[in-house]
Amino acid sequence: MRRKMPFLYTADELFQWIGGRPDFLLLDVRNEKDFANWSVEGPEFFPYINIPYFNFMEDVQGSIDRIPPGQKVRIVCAKEGSAKYVADLLVQNGFPDVGYLREGIVSWGNALVPRKVSGDDEAYALYQFIRPGKASCSYLLVSGKEAFVFDPSRNLEVYRRVAREHGARIVKSFETHRQADYISGSPELAREKGCVVMVNSLDFEGAAFPCEPIVHGQVYGLGKKGPKVTALHTPGHTMGSTCYCIDDRYLLSGDTIFVNTAGRPDLGGKWQEWARELYLTLMLRLRELSDGILILPGHYTSWEEANGEGIFAARLGDLRREMLAFRLPNERKFAEFIQENMRPQPGVYAEIRRVNGGWLKVSPEEADIMDLGKNECGASNYGKVGVSAEVQRCAV
Ligand SMILES: [Fe+2]
Repeated sequence: MRRKMPFLYTADELFQWIGGRPDFLLLDVRNEKDFANWSVEGPEFFPYINIPYFNFMEDVQGSIDRIPPGQKVRIVCAKEGSAKYVADLLVQNGFPDVGYLREGIVSWGNALVPRKVSGDDEAYALYQFIRPGKASCSYLLVSGKEAFVFDPSRNLEVYRRVAREHGARIVKSFETHRQADYISGSPELAREKGCVVMVNSLDFEGAAFPCEPIVHGQVYGLGKKGPKVTALHTPGHTMGSTCYCIDDRYLLSGDTIFVNTAGRPDLGGKWQEWARELYLTLMLRLRELSDGILILPGHYTSWEEANGEGIFAARLGDLRREMLAFRLPNERKFAEFIQENMRPQPGVYAEIRRVNGGWLKVSPEEADIMDLGKNECGASNYGKVGVSAEVQRCAV
């Protein structure tokens, strides 16, 4: 019988498969350190092992023997080449169904999954774009022939495609803050004719790309009869952090609040001052918003936070009742909570901030490397060992 060749699969396919009880083994052939630092995550658990590529070179049979014979295998590596090498080896050794990831883990890191948040009865469409490799969320709001994008990543074609499907094009890009953990697509959009990038000057003073300042309380209309987007200055995670309220129904909360915690105020090196601002934001500046407003965050920690439709969202009223960051009795207790959960930030964050201000230019390949890995933006993501997000929500 003719042997089946290994085939290429895409990051989008991988996401679809791992969300639906896959019948294959995912084999990661990166080195152990890279695997431990960052790996593929999806809405469900799935069989996933690590056998470094070098093991296959040094001990072919011993490495192959670690995989159950006849097993369907999908392989992930750093860039594609070593996964193809291992895929060829497995096929030569009788494995019947072997695939390897196109462009390696970088393509997983850049993949975006659009999920429609707004109902079909609404006059506009709001999408959450989940980036599984970064655990981050960006947004697209479409009405008539125009679209706004919020906190876009560099993978701009995905936002453009969804806008095109509605017969619309992106006319404004809003930043909730100057990101530290991923490279924004806004500077590239700023070069496009007819697209304006909106930023808070406190985070983007002297930015080296064309942009316009956001004004607190300003309303930005979309299309002729479209929704109203109101900018709310909500300092704390950064001093320029800004949330965007859509028709008093949705709050694009950036890294100010997530579904299970608040954003870290310590990334800028002034944690006490910024923690105080964050406390005042949660207690005062968001006070006028109704409990029913749907919080749509800039990040998540784990897929457990997604709702039944696979969307990261929560009612503000529920967060006020359940989230620890909202339940601390005074500023001092809030500062203690922040301090207990502080941890070093990845060294690359300083460079990413400079790229996002337009002050540091990097090639697309360098940007891919800088952009790898899960975010570190939540105040309590990994702070307390053994304390799950669920326990934190219920801790008070
Ligand atoms: Fe952030």
